[in-house]
Formats: sequence, C-alpha cells, structure tokens
Amino acid sequence: MRDVAVIGVGLTKFGELWDKSFRQLIAEAGSKAILDAKIEGKDIDAMYVGSMSSGRFVDQEHIGALVAEVSGFSSLHIPSTRVEGACASGGLAVREGYLSVASGMNDVVVVGGIEKMNDVGGGEATEILATASDQEWEAFFGVTFPGIYAMIATRHMHEYGTTREELAQVAVKNHANGALNPCAQYQTPISLESVLKATIVASPLGLMDCSPVSDGAASIVLCAAEKAKKYTNKPVKIIGSGQASDTLALHGRRDICTLDATVYAAKMAYKQAGISAKDVDFAEVHDCFTIAEICAIEDLGFVEKGKGGQAITNHITTLDGQIPVNTSGGLKAKGHPVGATGVAQIVELVLQLRGEAGKRQVKDAKLGLAHNVGGSGATCVVHILEAM
Ligand code: COA
Repeated sequence: MRDVAVIGVGLTKFGELWDKSFRQLIAEAGSKAILDAKIEGKDIDAMYVGSMSSGRFVDQEHIGALVAEVSGFSSLHIPSTRVEGACASGGLAVREGYLSVASGMNDVVVVGGIEKMNDVGGGEATEILATASDQEWEAFFGVTFPGIYAMIATRHMHEYGTTREELAQVAVKNHANGALNPCAQYQTPISLESVLKATIVASPLGLMDCSPVSDGAASIVLCAAEKAKKYTNKPVKIIGSGQASDTLALHGRRDICTLDATVYAAKMAYKQAGISAKDVDFAEVHDCFTIAEICAIEDLGFVEKGKGGQAITNHITTLDGQIPVNTSGGLKAKGHPVGATGVAQIVELVLQLRGEAGKRQVKDAKLGLAHNVGGSGATCVVHILEAM
C-alpha cells in the first residue's frame, strides 16, 4: 500500500440547473479538478465516476466511458469505470480510485460524481430514489426515504428524548453554513420557526428537515503521495478509508437508531489513520435528513449515543464549535445530487485543509472526516484527510 494524496478538486454549483446538461456538468467539474491539479490527459492512468441512477434520471447509462469522452480523452483510451452504491456512489468511487493508487496499479486517477435529478418530476425522483431501499419489504408497501428516516427519528425521540427542535436546529445550522458557500443550492439562512412550521413530509420530518432534489457534479484528482509535490504545493493526504454494509431494509438491523455500517466504516478508517474520533477537527456527514446528522455524529463517535440532539443545540457542531459539522451546508443546504455527494464532501475537506474555504473556513483545520451513506445505511464510506 502507498500513501495517496488529493492534488486537485472541482465542483459545479448545486441546484435546479435547467440550463446545464448532464455532459456539461461532468465537463465543468472534471475540467476544474484537472486544471486545479495542473495535469494533462496523458498523466491520467484511470477514471472512476459515481452515479446512482443516471439511466432513470437522464436516460443515460454507460457513463464511465462517457466521462472520458466528455473530458476530451476518448482518443487516449483511459480505463474509466462507473461505480454505484445509491447515495454513497460518490464515496465509493473515491474509495475505488484511492485503492487503485494505493495498490501501486495507478499513479494519477480522476474521480467524479454526478447526478442530474430535476429532469424528472418530484414524484418520479422519489420513486427512483426508493429503488435504493428494499423493494420487497419497503418500496412495495409505499414507503419512501423521508418515511424511512421519519421512522428512525420517531424511534430516536422515543429512546433518547430527542426533540423536534433539536432536529430542526440541524437544518438551521446547515443553512447558515450553506449561506457562506457560493456553490450551495440554498444560500439563505433560515429560522428555527420556519423549520418547525414547514409542511410535514413524513412526520416528524417537515420540508426543511429534508435534503432537496438536486443537480450537480464534483471531481477530484488522486495521486501517489510521493509524486504529489510534482503537481501541487498543497497536497492533502487520505490517511484512512473505510467501507461497510448492512441490510437494505431498516427492520433487519440490530438497532434502527444506529447505522452499524457507519460504525464499522469509521472503525476501519480510524484504525488505518491511527486516530480516534476525538482527533477529528471537522467533518462532512451525510445529513440527507436532519435525524441522519444526529445519528451520524453519534455513530462516528463524536458524541455519546443518544446525545446528538443536545450536541446540536449546545452548538458543538457549528462553524466555531468544538467539531464543526457540514461546513459546506451539508446535503441539507448545499444540495444532494446523490452520485456527486460523496465526491463533493472530499472537495469541501480539501478546501478547508488548504485554507481555501473562504467565509466558512474552520480555524486550524488539520484533520477532516467525510461520511457518505447509501440508502438508509446499507452502505457507508468514511474517509479521513490530513494536510501534508
Ligand atoms: N429544503 C429546502 N427547500 C426546499 C426543499 C428542501 N429539501 N425542497 C424543496 N424546497 C423548496 C423549493 O426550492 C421551492 O421553493 P420556491 O417555491 O421558493 O421555488 C419549494 O420548496 C417547493 O419546491 P418543490 O420542488 O415543489 O418541493 P417538493 O414538495 O416537490 O419536494 C421534498 C420537497 C422534501 C419532498 C423533496 O425535496 C425531497 O423529496 N427531498 C428528499 C430527497 C431524498 O429523499 N433524497 C435521498 C435521501 S436518502
């Protein structure tokens, strides 16, 4: 195994991007990352792209080769592979790229993530997303992801006394961070009252507890750490990578308030990095719904199980808190183009660790963690990054 560094990042704005095609989004994120890394096509050994359901959202499959073509590299015949793991597709693509460089097979790898979800209507988007739940035991009976996470929230409230206000505070915090991110879908701060008064989607979760339906793409360039300084003076090292799985359906789990895939993926990443949760300076976690961020900060070990809600209201996870969480605005405010999310999280970590996060810069950011979940927790990928 060799050390691996991120030497370039690129991100499109997230949102309802009617004026941009699927191909344009890929090209924009990819070319930004390639320019940032100061590499050329001939330097690239392989490409990986994460996308959950491009076939259903924009009728386009076979996007591994498409990404190479859109990037202008088809005549170079670079191996290019699409990776799928529902909303964790991006994180999985990062991990596959990381493993291919760490193994010594490749020196320079471009990783992308893409989803364009608004080309279908809201109902259809919900149906497509539900294909990542268990068809026989969940989707068949009409339950969708807001409903599944609402069950987790209800149980968390019952077990630990988590309150509706604590859930809402996650959205308030993440919209405040999103307001500082020029790439975020929502760049307006929101009040606690507006979250509490929003239309109910699946009780107790309202509109403002949900991540939106988004279009967007993200890209990073990975390089063998020993060669990274050839391209950049600010490489960021991946010091831990973990992945774990669990049952697709919620009812099969040991405890529906704990995402064991998160616990196991984090354990693997912490062990490889030789650190524990208390060493992490800041994190991007998978807040597809407000309850998901509360579970994540518990399952990653930042706070004790059941204390996630209190940690939010005690401002432990705000930008100036003990461990800032979702400095980008998270899925909630930055947006959640599902296949792009896991790659975009790495982009945010790299910007923070290079001191280039502008108004949302975390002071003394040295160690960052990214947490990307597929479905309600059947797949989880965790990465830990450190400035070199
Ligand atoms: N957060 C904040 N604002 C949102 C929003 C969200 N999640 N979703 C929509 N809005 C805003 C829109 O911008 C729009 O504002 P405008 O009137 O000022 O333009 C307004 O609310 C209505 O938008 P619309 O697209 O009609 O909402 P909708 O009712 O069709 O969809 C949800 C709302 C919550 C159902 C949809 O965002 C959703 O399904 N989210 C969950 C996605 C998901 O499950 N992802 C996978 C997770 S595992």
